[in-house]
Amino acid sequence: MELTDKQKELFASYRIGSTQYVLAGEKDGCFKLANDFYDLMEQMEETKHILSLHPGDLEESRDKLGCFLCFYMNGPHLYQEKYGNIQLGAAHAHIPIGSKERDAWLLCMARALQMQPWEEDFKDFMFMRFQTPAHRIQNQP
Ligand code: HEM
Repeated sequence: MELTDKQKELFASYRIGSTQYVLAGEKDGCFKLANDFYDLMEQMEETKHILSLHPGDLEESRDKLGCFLCFYMNGPHLYQEKYGNIQLGAAHAHIPIGSKERDAWLLCMARALQMQPWEEDFKDFMFMRFQTPAHRIQNQP
């Protein structure tokens, strides 16, 4: 994605302090994103396979992602307080994730981001931020 100078300036400002957490709507906003993401995963044809990699009951997955997103957006470390330290690579090491699974996850996240009442530039920024962990987590061709 080619960024304009205005976007570069804006994206740099998103990195200051807890700006992302505030723009996301704090805890409620992070949990809404996590829940919309898993609602979509349950509905979309393209995510059937990655849904099957999850536990049958998504309640804990929803909570873990919501807590993680609070921390990821520089808010409170809710994930660590409840579940302990996390290293995303290690947390996904037991799951076979190739480029198809990675792209399905990113597609699901792109759609979930579109459902948020956030400014469009902030959605683009967050989607850009998810690229790096999604590529790092991939552990198969
Ligand atoms: C690249 C594609 C990805 C796939 C296919 C995937 C799939 C999964 C699956 C199947 C689980 C459930 C694990 C289990 O309960 O055994 C999980 C957990 C989790 N995922 Fe992902 N994931 C991906 C990327 C990401 C990314 C990019 C993030 C964050 C930016 C993320 C955050 C999490 C978190 C926080 C958990 C809970 C970890 C735990 O406490 O066990 N995932 N993921």
